[in-house]
Amino acid sequence: MEYEASFLLQSLQSSFCYFFFSFALCFSIFSFLPYLVRLKAWCKCDVCRGYVTSSWSTEFDNLCDWYTHLLKNSPSRTIHIHVLGNTITANPDNVEYMLKTRFDNYPKGKPFSAILGDLLGRGIFNVDGDTWKFQRKMASLELGSVSIRSFAFEIVTSEIKHRLLPFLSSTASDEQDRVLDLQDVFQRFTFDNICRFSFGLDPGCLELSLPMSEFAMAFDLASRLCAKRALSLSPLVWKAKRLLNLGSEKKLKKAIRLINILADEVIKQRRKLGFSTHLDLLSRFMGTVNDDAYLRDIVVSFLLAGRDTVAAALTSIFWLMAKHPEVTTAILEESDRVMGPTQELATFQQLRDMHYLQATVYESMRLYPPVQFDSKFPQEDDVLPDGTVVKRGTRVTYHPYAMGRMEEVWGPDCLEFKPERWLKKGIFWPESPFKYPVFQAGFRVCLGKDLALVEIKSVMLAVIRGFEIEVDEPDNSPRFAPGLTATVSGGLPVLVRQRRRRS
Ligand code: HEM
Repeated sequence: MEYEASFLLQSLQSSFCYFFFSFALCFSIFSFLPYLVRLKAWCKCDVCRGYVTSSWSTEFDNLCDWYTHLLKNSPSRTIHIHVLGNTITANPDNVEYMLKTRFDNYPKGKPFSAILGDLLGRGIFNVDGDTWKFQRKMASLELGSVSIRSFAFEIVTSEIKHRLLPFLSSTASDEQDRVLDLQDVFQRFTFDNICRFSFGLDPGCLELSLPMSEFAMAFDLASRLCAKRALSLSPLVWKAKRLLNLGSEKKLKKAIRLINILADEVIKQRRKLGFSTHLDLLSRFMGTVNDDAYLRDIVVSFLLAGRDTVAAALTSIFWLMAKHPEVTTAILEESDRVMGPTQELATFQQLRDMHYLQATVYESMRLYPPVQFDSKFPQEDDVLPDGTVVKRGTRVTYHPYAMGRMEEVWGPDCLEFKPERWLKKGIFWPESPFKYPVFQAGFRVCLGKDLALVEIKSVMLAVIRGFEIEVDEPDNSPRFAPGLTATVSGGLPVLVRQRRRRS
């Protein structure tokens, strides 16, 4: 009897599932059709065939390298991938037009905010219009203040002194040479740093034992799975999986639930203990925003914006310096001149006085921008300055990775790593942000740019003045894992040795 009941129940369940799946399938096919028609999903042009069959991968290590090749060969420096409905440009005039001249016509758009919506909610990174304007104003005021800059600098120097340097010293003094993944070290460092800055919370990911913080793991997983959504042929695929709570969507839901629990806990604690005397971003925003869910969204956006970007920048800088020891030597010479040979950490003013160091950071991100491309979705049909027609609601992408490799912007030596190109008579000289949109540009330019530069330069100096970093196989070009920021598959394996004293 019991057996029959359970059998009946199972049959009912499976009929329900069958019905539900059939419904979801029909729904997907019907909703998919207009989408396919609009995309020209049947397109058989060489580029679309190359994309669909992944034949590009026989010649190129990364999709961004193939796009760069296509963009170099296009006279307008703009291409169209029909099957994706994506117009991709490396033309600085188009970039200026989208990010400044007709900014209002090029929002992030619904397809983007849907992908990150579950993780970021209404946070600044994921909204347009008035909600964005409100947060942008509030965040610009806070981030522009002298007190937050010195608070951020204090966190960076303490994290370097008490965690990064002791950790590298422990590895360097190992009897046997121990290979270390420097990318992982930087990701731990930047996560501790951005959490302390944003929440006043210290996950301690770079403690000597390299503990796996639950929060860091959930955050990693959630951003990876959101990036995976962007790779689906149609948003309907991940939306159907979300509806049915299946596979990666089930994991994403679980990871986001954990992030929410932890964030809520921090917010509650802050309210209980009083926030007016605290310097972190959350405490500052609490003065203006009363809604806890909104506060959580705002701060989680900062975590996403400020963590992997800095780790990606540091990873490529150390890889490039390993290939170009003369650059490391020049930085050491400059820092000895400004700081003397024995001072461990640079002061804020000393960082500003090191122009070659700054040039190295810019040059590295020219070739390896942490955010390789960025998409917008025009509200109205439009024509870009190079004559390309873009249709309302389709995707338009500007591509900093390809732009850093364009001869007409950077000259015939554009593929070479040469920090000197950023110096005029020894003084750092920035380029137009529309030629170098590494931090985006125009009205939505990155709000953490200055903080990021201070963090990157402080870490570079502390590490190269204290240690010799030997990269395992520096001649292998990086292969990037698909994601929101440039993460190298397999990390950056290195050997760390204490640097011998310089005379
Ligand atoms: C090398 C490091 C960094 C790079 C390359 C970088 C790059 C960018 C880019 C390309 C955007 C535009 C993204 C988009 O709209 O789709 C952006 C936005 C933003 N970044 Fe950064 N970022 C870095 C570090 C940081 C840090 C450390 C913080 C925070 C402390 C931060 C905070 C933000 C915020 C809040 C936005 C959103 C601005 C807005 O929508 O108005 N970034 N960043």
